[in-house]
Amino acid sequence: MRKISVFSVILCLVLATFSVTQYSCNERAEAKADSVSIPKTMTHGEMVERGRYLITAASCGDCHCPKVFTPQGPIPDSARLYSGHPANMPMMPIDKKVLKPGNWMMMGPDVTSFVGPWGVSFAANLTPDTATGIGAWTADVFIKTLRTGKHLGQEGGRPILPPMPWPTVAQFTDEDLKSIFSFLQSLPPISNKVPAPLTPVDVAKMK
Ligand code: HEC
Repeated sequence: MRKISVFSVILCLVLATFSVTQYSCNERAEAKADSVSIPKTMTHGEMVERGRYLITAASCGDCHCPKVFTPQGPIPDSARLYSGHPANMPMMPIDKKVLKPGNWMMMGPDVTSFVGPWGVSFAANLTPDTATGIGAWTADVFIKTLRTGKHLGQEGGRPILPPMPWPTVAQFTDEDLKSIFSFLQSLPPISNKVPAPLTPVDVAKMK
């Protein structure tokens, strides 16, 4: 009798320890999920502020902002934030060797245009101008575009070209992408018609 009760006490202790361990593991898994999602519903103003923080930390402006030149190098032009490759910027001569993989790639002096085996790509205007920016987009279109890597998120849409880092931007949660979108939509709309990308064939024809 005595032996059995000692055994049951030990068994109970083992089971209790097991369930505590299980409990704390679950708790940890929940804490991890909480740290990437936003537990509360944000107001519009909070989303805009979170979007500003995320877009800054994600360095989107390195490519999407026109620059001013300082002795320390090019810095985002605060008067034209996120308006993309300036339409009036002259096209510089292109070394056609860079169209072949294995060579250096090139980028414009303000880091808004890029030449490589894909041809020439120009950073998009992300301000809410309806005609030349993303003013007519919905948050849903924005999320679909960045998750699929297809222009306007449409099936069969044109693939978004390098060096736009959409596969990593796609890792943001829906809430984060919505916040970034809310921030972009809060900017002053800037009319700047970014040129369409050029294919390697287009570049080969250039003088
Ligand atoms: C290294 C440069 C670079 C960075 C960093 C970058 N982009 Fe881009 N982005 C581009 C280029 C270049 C294009 C144009 C690609 C094309 O025409 O296919 C583009 C296009 C886009 C488009 C338009 C897609 C379409 O359907 O036409 C959106 C939206 C966008 N970027 C959002 C972002 C956001 C948000 C971030 C930061 C989280 C970001 N980009 C960071 C270079 C960049």
